[in-house]
Amino acid sequence: MTAKIIDGKAFAARVRGQVAEHVARLKAGHGITPGLAVVLVGEDPASQVYVRSKGKQTVEAGMNSYEHKLDADTSEAELLALIGRLNADPAVHGILVQLPLPKHLDSDLVINAIDPAKDVDGFHISNVGLLGTGQKSMVPCTPLGCLMMLRDHHGSLAGMDAVVVGRSNIVGKPMAQLLLGDSCTVTIAHSRTKDLGEVCRRADILVAAVGRPEMIPGDWVKPGATVIDVGINRIERDGKTVLVGDVDFDSAVKAAGAITPVPGGVGPMTIACLLANTLTACCRANGLMEPEGLTA
Ligand code: GUN
Repeated sequence: MTAKIIDGKAFAARVRGQVAEHVARLKAGHGITPGLAVVLVGEDPASQVYVRSKGKQTVEAGMNSYEHKLDADTSEAELLALIGRLNADPAVHGILVQLPLPKHLDSDLVINAIDPAKDVDGFHISNVGLLGTGQKSMVPCTPLGCLMMLRDHHGSLAGMDAVVVGRSNIVGKPMAQLLLGDSCTVTIAHSRTKDLGEVCRRADILVAAVGRPEMIPGDWVKPGATVIDVGINRIERDGKTVLVGDVDFDSAVKAAGAITPVPGGVGPMTIACLLANTLTACCRANGLMEPEGLTA
């Protein structure tokens, strides 16, 4: 059997299109334009690429993009003052502080200074608590994108055995909460899990989010399972730098029923979901109906 390849690039384009349509209706019907503020501290090259991409896609969806680029030596007080201004600004519906922050800044403190209603990353402790208790929250973008792809492929996920490999606050833990919310039986596995292969082989849905290149081989994949590969790892192969996931694609594709490739799988969904979250935050702020199919 060869798996269906889940095309995240096409899916993300569809989500961005839905967001853009909804934004156009908000503008025409209510005179409201959603606004996303992105804060970048320092000059990390990867972060600069992400931030540029976020700004471009925000504008393409018809929303306002506000970029705040601060020097690497910006003090915590200055950063907190900026967040305070963005919290109070009614034109800003979403705030994203690009991580990682320079070492002298306490990222927990900074993230928790964002108004939870504008926390489009879903990293604020209030949103983490709301998600964990099944209440309406802002949901982290990458796991939200994975959930959308799984729902699209399967319809209902109820009763499925899901294994999430990775326990990060950004992906693993919220992913597990979302799968539980959709009535999966969820296992969170990680680098210290005993017989990780045996645990993975139980999964109808296997989500890999460990950040280790190709660590999950095809013989850890139950025949017919759906594999969501969140990993984005740069490695050297045959003298070239290539992007690979946390799953060994060539062997996993032979066992799985469906699989996301790297690149072109989960990656493009993250920014699409950031736009969706900004739209959701804007609708909530204005007491308007939320977009259907773009939230958890
Ligand atoms: N850095 C890498 N990924 C992310 C993300 O999803 N959100 C933020 N704020 N920073 C990141």
